[in-house]
Amino acid sequence: MVNLHTTIGSFGFDNVLMNASGVRCMTAADLDKLADTVAGTLITKSGTPEARTGNPSPRAAGLPFGSINSMGLPNLGIDYYIDYVEKFQEKHPDKPIFLSVAGLGPDDYHVIAKKIQASNFTGPTEFNLSCPNVPGKPQIAYDIPTTRRILDDMFSFFTKPAGIKLPPYFDLTQFDDMAAVLNDYPLTFINSMNSIGNGMAIDPETDTTLIKPKGGFGGIGGTYAKPIALANVRAFRLRLRPEIAIIGTGGVTSGRDVYDLILCGASMVQLGTVLGIEGLGVFQRLTEELSAEMAKKGYTSISDFQGKLKTLD
Ligand code: FUM
Repeated sequence: MVNLHTTIGSFGFDNVLMNASGVRCMTAADLDKLADTVAGTLITKSGTPEARTGNPSPRAAGLPFGSINSMGLPNLGIDYYIDYVEKFQEKHPDKPIFLSVAGLGPDDYHVIAKKIQASNFTGPTEFNLSCPNVPGKPQIAYDIPTTRRILDDMFSFFTKPAGIKLPPYFDLTQFDDMAAVLNDYPLTFINSMNSIGNGMAIDPETDTTLIKPKGGFGGIGGTYAKPIALANVRAFRLRLRPEIAIIGTGGVTSGRDVYDLILCGASMVQLGTVLGIEGLGVFQRLTEELSAEMAKKGYTSISDFQGKLKTLD
């Protein structure tokens, strides 16, 4: 019998699967529906200090092997999501829920972390340092000194479980440099990775970009992202302190994709594009496919293969 139980820090989950922030998690009604699936847990849309309507439409489109989006962090504001997770943890003390938050600039993280610290929420918070879609705002976690400054400030007062959501990195020196920063802080987890920022897709009939914001530049997700997500999870697992868990995100459409992220070292796996396209039933399908893959290998628990990728050297 296969068991999909996993842990992030001191939190336990009955299933490695959950949604990625941004997909089907904007409102309390969306979040309630996620909580009703077989997923191990759920995460909110990234809350910013003030509610936002986000970028103009069309701001998301399907592609042959994934998606492009430039939503621009539409959300109901940090207070709304703190209220939701506080109530959720009261109702479901055995199902830890993740809160996602994002700043529009480095100083916002101070304000946000203070609010969470002062709240009754005791679950894990994912600090999103990697949204590629706010016009004029860079992806913070590509800027190492600024990332360190945010973490220095945050951990001078923040005592609750925290992780950060990273963008994809592409050069091995980037992994070395970012891991050296992350290892200096009491992080519970990282989430690797956000969409691949600033891709582009074109409608061949009209020679026009598929999405409107930022002149058509947007984050790429889905199957296009899988090899990059595997490499990012693997590269960080080889460099981070073992106590910092990794949530793997990117390129999942099958149970084997989930398995591969775990093989590279992920403790949980988030679903983005595939959840947007297929809907909530994807959690059941992928749970069955992952279980079948594990059974085929003779594995009964996640720890049987987590991080045990083999290489040819
Ligand atoms: O545009 C968006 O709302 C996406 C956010 C993210 O990728 O973090």
